[in-house]
Amino acid sequence: MPAWLALPLALQVLAALVAAHPGHHAVYPAHQKRDSCGAVSSSSSTAAASSTSVSSTTIITSSTSTTKASTSSTSTTTSAQTSTSSSTSGSTLGALAAAAGKEYFGTEISSYYMANTQFSSITNTQFTQLTPENEMKWDTIHPSQNTYNWTGTDLIMATAQAHNQKFRGHNFCWSSQTPSWVTSITDATTLKSVLEAHITAVMGRYGGSMYAMDVVNEPLLDDGTWRSSVWYNVLGEDYIALALQYAHAAAPDVKLYINDYNLEGVNAKSKALLAIAKKLLAAGAPLHGIGFEAHFIGGSVPTDLAASMAQFTDLGLQVAITELDVRIPVDSSGVATAANLAQQAKDYAYVTNVCLANSLCPGITVWGFYDPDSWVPSTFAGYGAADLYDSTFTAKPALASTLAALAAA
Ligand SMILES: *[C@@H]1O[C@H](CO)[C@@H](O)[C@H](O)[C@H]1NC(C)=O
Repeated sequence: MPAWLALPLALQVLAALVAAHPGHHAVYPAHQKRDSCGAVSSSSSTAAASSTSVSSTTIITSSTSTTKASTSSTSTTTSAQTSTSSSTSGSTLGALAAAAGKEYFGTEISSYYMANTQFSSITNTQFTQLTPENEMKWDTIHPSQNTYNWTGTDLIMATAQAHNQKFRGHNFCWSSQTPSWVTSITDATTLKSVLEAHITAVMGRYGGSMYAMDVVNEPLLDDGTWRSSVWYNVLGEDYIALALQYAHAAAPDVKLYINDYNLEGVNAKSKALLAIAKKLLAAGAPLHGIGFEAHFIGGSVPTDLAASMAQFTDLGLQVAITELDVRIPVDSSGVATAANLAQQAKDYAYVTNVCLANSLCPGITVWGFYDPDSWVPSTFAGYGAADLYDSTFTAKPALASTLAALAAA
């Protein structure tokens, strides 16, 4: 275990974070550019950054302030428990998922939200797994060749460690949020060495504490052909095997995933990825799972979700639900109708039941649980309210239906 992961330091990081943003009403940066994977380019410093030069590489980490750890992150009376207690007697998504034999029930998170005590209380009572929304993506964690910025991922890893939450890393090879110093490389040998160095550095720092990593993100188009990216364009389809190999060499215990959207039905895209997965497994590649992002529209969840999942689990691969949200129509104030909220509740429960029914589905991760943290409104005009809690941290019917599905398993 790296020294920084020692609990006192983790608590110091959390304390510094809380100290930097006290109170319930912190102002968060407006989300700016979004993309198909919930990407957001806005960022906010969550703790004073400090830079240390090691050889020619700049390392940016959180402040290691010695502020005494506060207990705010372990508050036991939360709005989450209050708002769900009527139907579940205080049981949480994570606890019920574990009781049902799943490994976790998780959420995406950005470190700048962690100073909000309501947000953190729900995060740390309901969820047993965290995925960084943006802070582990290449453009943030490795913005220039000789600069690694560990700040955001350190904070998220620290809170995961402090609350016994699993960590899903996200991601290495993607067509988006990759800095131009990488996307401008045209020589295969150079690109391979850059990829290997990046994966080795990130896995070297976090691999010992990670459950899974989305090594490859969104490699295919909806028709099942390859998506253009520096990885595919310069290295060809072998880039997936190479990235898996580098990741496995650096962190042999981490489950390595390919993650994509529109795999949730038996269609051209999921069939194409199935063929790629078979080829990788036949070649001995360390591929352990497929991520179904699961960005759904209320009332339109594929009815063959279980069948699509089985395509991959029949090969012995895990299939995790990695980015679940269910967007529904909203008015100009972002308000949804009761009927649409009821449909959304059915959809969350349906997805939960599909995962529960497949022993190789380790768990579900929601792409945010709090509507103001959702990528949906700025990406899909007229849609929103996609998450389990609204902008006042009031639980929606979808939380109760998801808890009930887990409790019934
Ligand atoms: C490092 O990343 C964090 C987000 O994780 C960001 O807020 C901060 O500005 C970055 N630091 C530098 C020096 O780029």
